Amino acid sequence: MEKREQIYEGKAKILYTTDNPDLLIQYFKDDATAFNAAKKGSIHDKGIINNKISTKIFEYLIAHGIPTHFEKSLSDREMLVKRVQIVPLEVIIRNVAAGSLSRILGIEEGTSLACPVLEFCYKEDKLNDPMINETHIRALKLATDEDVEQIKKYTLKINELMLKFFSSLNIKLIDFKLEFGKYKGKVILADEISPDTCRLWDAKTGDKLDKDRFRRDLGNIEEAYQEVLSRVSR
Ligand code: TMP
Repeated sequence: MEKREQIYEGKAKILYTTDNPDLLIQYFKDDATAFNAAKKGSIHDKGIINNKISTKIFEYLIAHGIPTHFEKSLSDREMLVKRVQIVPLEVIIRNVAAGSLSRILGIEEGTSLACPVLEFCYKEDKLNDPMINETHIRALKLATDEDVEQIKKYTLKINELMLKFFSSLNIKLIDFKLEFGKYKGKVILADEISPDTCRLWDAKTGDKLDKDRFRRDLGNIEEAYQEVLSRVSR
């Protein structure tokens, strides 16, 4: 697959065109940011680790009927993906209170929720990705009602699958963020799923195995990401 020009550089990844107009190369960087890039750093080998973890998770989801942009792994830091039009939403699903939910609603981190909580944020860095609801999405024409329904269905299904997957690795899936894209008229899962985009707690010790170690300066960040990789690889 020939790598042509860079078309996008985000905080954690770069996208390149290929000789096939329907396919892109997604390159994973070591750069780490938090709080909309107010905090910046780098996590050694994060790009390699997240590429591998994302690959494992996409393969698992595809095997269970979820359409994703993942085509195949190309190298340590690169995967081949379908070229989608990203829906400008960050879709967050939560099983246990943590992070902004705990802060906004005053619920202690670690409190389990009676049902999964689904949130939408408008993916717009200059506004700090504000939380919105379905009427905002309709009013601002960020996605069609049909696409929103499909996104909600997939997100709930992905949550069920991911809960099973991580629980079998002795990891508690607290919450995670998804992004979807449109490809040939259909909604498919895009972006990445990794310790950058999930909260993952060791089921026995409660140790955080995700980007909160970077956000909160907890140390041993690379070790935590490696631990997740070694569990998803077994
Ligand atoms: P939050 O509690 O900060 O809203 O985060 C919820 C989940 O979404 C958590 O697993 C981290 C993930 N997330 C991202 O992947 N990207 C982001 O920009 C933010 C704010 C959260």
